[in-house]
Formats: sequence, structure tokens, C-alpha cells
Amino acid sequence: MVEADQLHVRTLGDCRIESPLGALVARQGTTQHYVDESDRVLLDDTVALLSARGGMPVDRLPSFEPGGPRKRIFFDPSKIRVGIVTCGGLCPGLNDVIRGLVLELTSHYGVTRIIGFRNGYQGLIARYGRSLVELTPRQVEGINEYGGTILGTSRGNQDPEEIVDCLEQLGVNILFVIGGDGSMRGALKIAEVVRGRDRRIAVVGVPKTIDNDIPFIEQSFGFQTAFAKATESIRAAHVEATAQPGGIGLVQLMGRHCGFIACYAALANNDADYVLIPEIPVVLDGPDGFLEHLRRRVVTRGHAMVVVAEGAGQDYLQHEPLRVDASGNRRLGDFGYYLRHRIQDHFAAAGDEANLKYIDPSYLIRSVPANPYDSVYCLRLAHAAVHAAMAGRTEMVVGRWRGRFVHVPIPLAVASRNQVDPDGDLWMSVLEATGQPPSFKAQSVTPV
Ligand code: F6P
Repeated sequence: MVEADQLHVRTLGDCRIESPLGALVARQGTTQHYVDESDRVLLDDTVALLSARGGMPVDRLPSFEPGGPRKRIFFDPSKIRVGIVTCGGLCPGLNDVIRGLVLELTSHYGVTRIIGFRNGYQGLIARYGRSLVELTPRQVEGINEYGGTILGTSRGNQDPEEIVDCLEQLGVNILFVIGGDGSMRGALKIAEVVRGRDRRIAVVGVPKTIDNDIPFIEQSFGFQTAFAKATESIRAAHVEATAQPGGIGLVQLMGRHCGFIACYAALANNDADYVLIPEIPVVLDGPDGFLEHLRRRVVTRGHAMVVVAEGAGQDYLQHEPLRVDASGNRRLGDFGYYLRHRIQDHFAAAGDEANLKYIDPSYLIRSVPANPYDSVYCLRLAHAAVHAAMAGRTEMVVGRWRGRFVHVPIPLAVASRNQVDPDGDLWMSVLEATGQPPSFKAQSVTPV
């Protein structure tokens, strides 16, 4: 259970400078669509969750600091230098966020010195020799039309002491890190070194992952674009499957630890008969296992459509050597490929025809430009990040909770992972749409 203290956001000091946006927010108080800076956004939003707090006084209830512009800020915009870095795997919308940060900093706050670091944290480490990019409104014009990131990226963290050396040498006052959970752990280490050296450098994150697995951000940017792109593969596989006797469409989608992309893409088409995700262990063999269930369905209904998240069924690939990437993530075995052969073998052993069409769109779904919804979202996250940093907030990421922009301390944002809840309403919708059993069991349950 998250407690109030875990939601406390660190600040570099008092906000004594009149914000250039002060006039815009002067008349605003809390409304249904805006949260005043002195107000808080409650963590819990149901009667049951609040009751579980045992009648705690309102000011002790866990709550987030709201995002948005402040009347007074910490940094003098005319004196500061800002750095931006994009880290980890690609995600639709990275360029939108970069552009949003630059335009908000320059147009509204009047910051004139912004630099981009190339190729993730490597860009802050001398031995890599990466050049800096001067980021101006002109430089970022139109970049949101393209996938990827104009700054480039890389996986893996670097020595935080060396990174802070670099920030000090360049006179950077605010560092924006656009990255996933691993990069945010790196950002936290950087902020800790900054604190240890008693420097006034704000470290603010914009959480990025197409997998949608960062907590306290209802949907991460790029997720919607990614699953929308994934629906094209499902549609193609479904068309193929319905055209042939014993037709089986099998689509594998990204999702290392969670099945959000698989669930949403499957629901969008509403053609999937099975969705396999890492959160729900799958049993392939036995009379009530997945393979036999699938065979019965194809024999009786003529075809079937299977959507699988890449992190599913990894138990079946344990024999593969354990490998990790530069971010420390375990490299997954190719479950889609394995499943394809298991399905074909199972049908062959039963003497049934199987025409299996396998599609793995892989990076196709994350290298595309953001769709309009994600573009809007990226821009608003960028605005919230700039407001937070200018107000001296640090060691935090911008989040979105119950539809409102909030500040989330990095330690909390990296402490857990957002996953599809097997008892939640998303998985229920998947079960309703597919008609698949809640789980596949090894053995038939013998009635007593
Ligand atoms: O972390 C997001 C993600 O899209 C995962 O779903 C996927 O396993 C991984 O990135 C692959 O990225 P890369 O090949 O760049 O390490």
C-alpha cells in the first residue's frame, strides 16, 4: 500500500521568481479540469480504497502534487541552461516530447540555451565523444512528423559521477530524461550525486515505454500509436486465417513483462480468439491445455486467431542461455516462433490440417511517428515537465493519474511495474471478447 510520504516530491528551494506564466494561472483555482498548485490529487478514488485507510484525516491521505504552471518559479529563465536526453528503446512520440520541451522553454519561459545529448547517457560521457546538439525552435521544427528521436538513443546507464561532472562543466541547471524504468533508475542516481555535491540541478523525467508498464502514468505516450499499428498485423493474419481450411493466424507483439499491447490490439480488432500474455501463465499441453483447446476450436469453427505478447510462455524456453541487454533486461526467448512449431506439430499429430500464418511486426510498431492522440499527450507531458523543472522540482517524473497531470517521485515510479491485472477489468474484457478460458490447465479438473 502506497503511503503519503512516498509521494513527497523533492524541490531545490523556494520559488521566489515571478513566473512568466503567472498571469495565465492567476485566476485559476481547483476545478474539475484543473488542479491548483496548492491542492493535491488523491491516490485512491473509490470508497472501498478510502475506507481501507481507516478514516485517515484528509491531509494524511496519500496524494500527488499536481502538475502545471506555478505562479512563482525557482529558476531565472534568462540565466539557465537546459539539457535533454532520450534513452532506451524507441517509442512513438519521442520527437514530440523533445519539441514540446524546447517550445515551452523558449516561447513561454524565455530560456535561450538548450542542448541535446546524443545517444542516451553516452552523450554525457567524455570517452564516447558524442557532439552536443543546440536545440532551438527552428532546429525542432517538424521533427514530430518523424519516428525515432533526433537525439538518438542507447541502452544502459553510465557512471553518474561522470554525468554530473559533464552537467557541471556545461553549466546545465535542468536535465530532462526521456526514458523507461531503467533510465529513470539512472536519473535517480544522477540526482543523488547532484544532491551529494549540493548542486542546484533539477532532474526531471518524462516516462517512456510502449509497453505501458510504468506505474502512475495511466497510459504511457506512444502506447496508443504502437497498439494501433499492431492491429494491422492482426487484421492481416485474420484475413489469411479465414481464407483457408484449418486457418490459424498467429501474431506476436512486443511486451516484455506485460501484455497491454497484445490486449489492446486484440480488443481493437475484436477478432482474436486467444490472447496470451506474461501475466497469465499458459499451459500448452494436456486435454485442457492451449494447444488442444485451439485444435478443437479450429476443427469446429474452421479457423482461429491467436495474439501473443513476446514475454508470454517464457517457462517453455528456460533451456535457452540467460542473456541480458545493456539495460539489464533479460533477453527473451522467441515464444511466438516456438508456439508456431508446437501448434503445427500438435495438429499434425492429431491428423488435422493447419494453415498457420505467423506475423511478428516487431519494431514496426514502435518506430513510427506518434498518432494525433499521442502527439497531444506528448506535448502536454512536456509542458508539465517544464513547469515542474522551472519550479525547482527534482527526482521526479511527470505522470497522469485519474486523468490529471501529477508529479511522481522517481523512487516510487521505479519501485513497481504496471501489469495487466488478472482480476481486473481489462483482462475481463479480453476474456469476454475472445471467449478463451480464464487460464489453461495441465489437467482436466475431475469433479468431486
Ligand atoms: O522495452 C520496450 C520494448 O519495446 C520491449 O517490449 C521489447 O522487448 C524491447 O523494447 C526491445 O527493444 P530492443 O530490441 O531495442 O532492446
